[in-house]
Amino acid sequence: MENLDQHQAETLAAIAEAATVQAIEAIRVSALGKQGWVSALLKSLGGMTREQRHSEGPKIHAAREAVTAALSERKAALEHAALEARLAAETVDLSLPASETPRGSVHPVSQVMDELAEIFADMGFAVASGPEIEDDWHNFTALNMPETHPARAMHDTFYFPDRDAEGRSMLLRTHTSPVQIRAMLDQGAPLRVIAPGRVYRSDSDATHTPMFHQIEGLVIDKGIHLGHLKWTLETFLKAFFERDDIVLRLRPSYFPFTEPSVEVDVGYTLVGGKRVVGGSGDAPDGGWMEVLGSGMVNRKVIAFGGLDPDEWQGFAFGTGVDRLAMLKYGMDDLRAFFDGDARWLGHYGFGALDVPTLSGGVGVRA
Ligand code: DAH
Repeated sequence: MENLDQHQAETLAAIAEAATVQAIEAIRVSALGKQGWVSALLKSLGGMTREQRHSEGPKIHAAREAVTAALSERKAALEHAALEARLAAETVDLSLPASETPRGSVHPVSQVMDELAEIFADMGFAVASGPEIEDDWHNFTALNMPETHPARAMHDTFYFPDRDAEGRSMLLRTHTSPVQIRAMLDQGAPLRVIAPGRVYRSDSDATHTPMFHQIEGLVIDKGIHLGHLKWTLETFLKAFFERDDIVLRLRPSYFPFTEPSVEVDVGYTLVGGKRVVGGSGDAPDGGWMEVLGSGMVNRKVIAFGGLDPDEWQGFAFGTGVDRLAMLKYGMDDLRAFFDGDARWLGHYGFGALDVPTLSGGVGVRA
């Protein structure tokens, strides 16, 4: 049994000196392994008298405990030191330029929204937003569509089963126009905002998806008239399509929230059978297509926005962002926008580092 004390002292000393996890493992095998000295001592208990067992058993077990504890402590310390060494060796210098081109791409809808924000920021418009889960007051009533208004039925609205605390029906907003009301109530006048975002209608085919994107524009100020509206939309479309030969045609129309209302067509020419925006629609190979709804903000809507319509006037417009993207970048199936197909995204997506700017050309392609 002198063996025990000597073995234990030697083993603990070896553990303290072990410099690698492999060395620790070798010591464990030599002590606790099948052929190890602790195991040999444990086996020897069988050949002892009762008294010997009583006096030696606890010593052997204590030795095993001491060795086991020392092993795991030293192993943890070595692993910790190894991790520290790795962390110190593998530092990353975030100020270095990237060594690889980043993968992934910016979705055309995000790209077009960035382009629109850039174009309108240059004209002094801020970006406003509102909730996608709206109430029917903001989505309809305050936009001059009272409960019985036929235009409500045209919107294919997704309603929620429950009403909000004020007893209003809850719905997924069918257009971005409710942001007009929220912006007026929140910010007052004068006001110049765009509101891009998701909208929802129960509709689905090659050119309609239940969720799509719109952008709303609203200007409220004094002495605003249709001329301001036309100039703004013309300037916007020229910048967006990056052509000076954009020709607009304003057609009288009807929207409950504007009076008078106009639908804005843009002239296109046929190039290889495809419609390309630009030129007069009256040209021999041309035509007109509708791109925007707009008009002078209805007096009732200004009042619902908490402003005095005798003091403030304005114009508003709204259009589909997905549609603008399709016209500019040539996709023909809207549904592919929302399939998440990596090949489509690779083809139509934009480089993450190519932020659209007016000076660099708003639609720089990756
Ligand atoms: N909210 C209309 C829609 O979803 C689009 C629209 C038309 C917006 C005329 C406007 C506007 O601001 O003046 O069909």
